[in-house]
Amino acid sequence: MISGLDNILRGGTEGLPPFRTLWIGPVNVDPPILQAPMAGYTNYAFRQIVREFGGAGLLATEMVCAKGFAWLAEEQVEHPDRLWGVIDEPRPLAVQMWDNNPETLAKVGARLAHDYKVSVVDINFGCPVRDVAQKAQSGSYLLQEPDRMGNIIEQVVAACAPTPVTAKIRLGCTPDKINAIDVAQVVEGAGAAALTVHGRTAADMFRGSANWDHIAAIKPHLNRIPLIGNGDLTSPQEVVEAFRRYNIDGVMIARAALSKPWLFRQAAAALRSEPIPADPTLEEERALLLHHYDLIRGRFGETKGTVLMRKYACCYAQGRRGAREFRSRVVKASVAADFSAVVERYYPR
Ligand SMILES: Cc1cc2nc3c(=O)[nH]c(=O)nc-3n(C[C@H](O)[C@H](O)[C@H](O)COP(=O)(O)O)c2cc1C
Repeated sequence: MISGLDNILRGGTEGLPPFRTLWIGPVNVDPPILQAPMAGYTNYAFRQIVREFGGAGLLATEMVCAKGFAWLAEEQVEHPDRLWGVIDEPRPLAVQMWDNNPETLAKVGARLAHDYKVSVVDINFGCPVRDVAQKAQSGSYLLQEPDRMGNIIEQVVAACAPTPVTAKIRLGCTPDKINAIDVAQVVEGAGAAALTVHGRTAADMFRGSANWDHIAAIKPHLNRIPLIGNGDLTSPQEVVEAFRRYNIDGVMIARAALSKPWLFRQAAAALRSEPIPADPTLEEERALLLHHYDLIRGRFGETKGTVLMRKYACCYAQGRRGAREFRSRVVKASVAADFSAVVERYYPR
């Protein structure tokens, strides 16, 4: 739930100011609702599910470790697992990468832009996870060094041109060091084509709620690039309310889409003041789970695919009656027969 928005979702979509068309460089993001990058989740199978439902104007991969990718490229090894599907899947598509070395990021960005021909190259300046932030001094660590961020962005922009380069940040490193406005100006000045802001600090991890007032406060300080707000959107009404209340150009949704990949379609309809499509029935959700499983298994095989699918199945079950029991069983599935049996039992025909 957006901070300050709780329980004030009144009035449907009436009075919704017409949102501006969202352009990220030459890429038209329509509708202005973006699927967030999520490491370990937003692989090709998940993106394909989101795409089939529709409603997301731009999809994003999981973040790619630029150093690892640069090494792979030098060794002529096949592209990393995290780029599964990227070459062939429909556009627009954003690939996110992380590191702190401008040359490495520029080199990998150029490869993504020119060889993979992705629509947008996004740089992660928000990840608070220890291995990325503290150990590798990347992700959210860089928020405390805006000049360094600017240097990185300048070099990546030059290497990727004409493909747009974007930045995804948090509000700052800690609640007493919120510097998103300064950072935003550096991001714009360095030539980025859009800025996405998750309304928490790195130290917050996922605690508390996203502060959309802080996100919106950035907007008057940007002259050229769009501002995309992110954090705690879980329903079409909240998406509408975010556009209505805050001066943003787009919204990005992460966690809620794991249990409801159809949320983008619902939110897009709400933004157009159209009737909101119903949630899938139990029967449709069962078919969806099995379809998702097929996509995963097709890539990773039965053993690895079944293990990987467990976590998606747990997400889908969120809010469903019997979710706890379903989860306790599905996490034990190790072959296709186990998985199908659990799904058949909890999603009966
Ligand atoms: C499991 C998980 C993995 C994530 N991985 C990434 C990532 O690779 N890159 C990134 O910029 N943000 C990542 N995030 C953060 C989300 O993109 C998003 O900023 C955050 O979850 C807030 O949005 P939400 O409230 O809609 O979930 C991740 C979040 C989760 C829960």
